Amino acid sequence: MTATIISGKQVSEDIRGRIAGEVKGLAAKGVVPGLAVVLVGEDPASQVYVRNKEKACHDLGFYSEVHRLPAETSQAQLLALVDELNRKEAIDGILVQLPLPGHIDEKAVINAIAVGKDVDGFHPVNVGNLVIGDDSLLPCTPAGVIELIKRAGISLSGKHAVVIGRSNIVGKPVSLLLQRENATVTMCHSRTENMAEIARQADVLVVAIGRANFIDASYVKPGAVVIDVGMNRLENGKLAGDVDFDSVKEVCGPITPVPGGVGPMTITMLMQNTLIAAKRHHGLS
Ligand code: GUN
Repeated sequence: MTATIISGKQVSEDIRGRIAGEVKGLAAKGVVPGLAVVLVGEDPASQVYVRNKEKACHDLGFYSEVHRLPAETSQAQLLALVDELNRKEAIDGILVQLPLPGHIDEKAVINAIAVGKDVDGFHPVNVGNLVIGDDSLLPCTPAGVIELIKRAGISLSGKHAVVIGRSNIVGKPVSLLLQRENATVTMCHSRTENMAEIARQADVLVVAIGRANFIDASYVKPGAVVIDVGMNRLENGKLAGDVDFDSVKEVCGPITPVPGGVGPMTITMLMQNTLIAAKRHHGLS
């Protein structure tokens, strides 16, 4: 079996090119999509993510604001900023970088973001709309997973998709999106018995468990599509996925690498969500 690589980097560049073109068209109508990113504290990984988001905004012609607040910021201060951004005309999307410091209630902050500006897709109203199949802003990483599969020319209809991991950010929403594409979905998680046996039934295996190189060839049916959402920083500083690429590539069909697979799609889908929010905000969609 020869594995083929699904390049998230390439797909991401294609989508960004399309978004940049749309942004030019909007500019002619006097509309510039605006994203506000809020970072509380000095978590090193979060700082990198926020810089990347700022750069993506710059590259694609979006207006961007980054609010870097000290770790001691109170919940009331953060909620006041969110309220200000909710009302700010130039801002179409708001992203509060997680995790927040322990003294701040993340749920209270997410719930305070205006539903139409929730470009993370984390607000309970957007999550609820996703569950019932109504229009909503989709969480970025799950939306990126579906986009990658579709653009690789893989049909999901009627296929058996197995999702390993049940987080609110990836596993749960990805399973809903796969069902929307008419896949038959099985969820596995840390308490699942006979996980390898179930995973081996998958035509499409999506892995989001946060454990470096956990999934080896014994979990994979020959020719199956493997989507690795893992981003684990090893002690040597290297990035590893949840999938043991060298083992799995001997049996699988199309597979996403780490880095260069799902990772680049997340910010691209954030930009897409901000564009969608801007068009809705200005009555252009
Ligand atoms: N921290 C890690 N991933 C994410 C994400 O997708 N959104 C936000 N807001 N914070 C994160």
